[in-house]
Amino acid sequence: MHDIIKKLEQELHAALQQATSSDALEAVRIAFLGRNGHIAKLMQQLKELSLEDKRTVGPEINRLKQEAETGCLQKSEELTHANIRAEQEKQRFFDVTASVRKELTGSLHIYTRTIEDLENIFISMGYDVVEGPEIETDFYNFEALNIPADHPAREEHDTFWISDGRLLRTHTSPVQIRALTQRGTPLAIFAPGRTFRHEATDASHDFMFMQGELLYVDKQVSISNLLATAQTFLKAFFQTDHLNVRARPGYFPFVEPGIEIDASCPFCTGGCSICKRTGWIELLGSGLVHPHVLRSCGIDPEIYSGFALGFGIERLAMVKYGINDIRLFHGNNIEFLEQF
Ligand code: DAH
Repeated sequence: MHDIIKKLEQELHAALQQATSSDALEAVRIAFLGRNGHIAKLMQQLKELSLEDKRTVGPEINRLKQEAETGCLQKSEELTHANIRAEQEKQRFFDVTASVRKELTGSLHIYTRTIEDLENIFISMGYDVVEGPEIETDFYNFEALNIPADHPAREEHDTFWISDGRLLRTHTSPVQIRALTQRGTPLAIFAPGRTFRHEATDASHDFMFMQGELLYVDKQVSISNLLATAQTFLKAFFQTDHLNVRARPGYFPFVEPGIEIDASCPFCTGGCSICKRTGWIELLGSGLVHPHVLRSCGIDPEIYSGFALGFGIERLAMVKYGINDIRLFHGNNIEFLEQF
């Protein structure tokens, strides 16, 4: 019997160690201390032993019983503590008094948002949105736009030349030529896109910026169409019914006459800091498409006429949202970007 008791003792320790739940522990308790458990059986067998053996085996069984009882009790306490700790750990994640960490949510970039607004406006007015390449040839960027090699207007364009003779487009006007030659007439397109100029940066100039170009060519297109279109789109863009436009003469080689269009300040009636107290804001370059341009695209200027209109997309957004530095558009400053 000594050996059996020794073996049971080892089994008891192993079983207690392995019991990691109260159910498992209860199974150990029943196996050893239950009515038909190991200890009850040992007691049965004890009865059969001689008096002398009883004296030595009896205390061993008792010791095993004691070990089983204290072992189960201890383990039960351990498990209770572990349960409490686990519960506390869980509650740590559901602490309703804890302050919630601010989630960073994404938003559309000011460029995306402004260009989408403009596209929606022009699509609703019947224009197609088209794109042209950012790397252009001299022909599309200058020549076909009535700016020949010796033309002084080239100097204003501070061009980034590429070693193979091509250039980074200095405006979106070359898309006029590409669309006219590819699509012919009648034509109504809006071309937004990146443009580049090799100039020093300050709050209102950047070496890379965005322009939008509008071109409408058909029979009998007039300055009235141009002014009405400008007013309609600016009202929609600045979301106001109270916006007038005024035309001033301007010079751009690819239009004749060239016209600069100002909008009445959408933010004031008398004068504010945005319109520099004049009540007017310069926004658009425009004019009637020059006959040379139409001809260079294979279109007869005796039959067709058109207007072209160009603007800085940052300039429009800066006026609309009160942004005072063009460099913020590319600055990747999250505090600036998350406002939109
Ligand atoms: N391309 C001109 C610039 O970058 C802007 C412009 C002026 C576009 C008059 C036009 C226009 O379409 O008619 O300065």
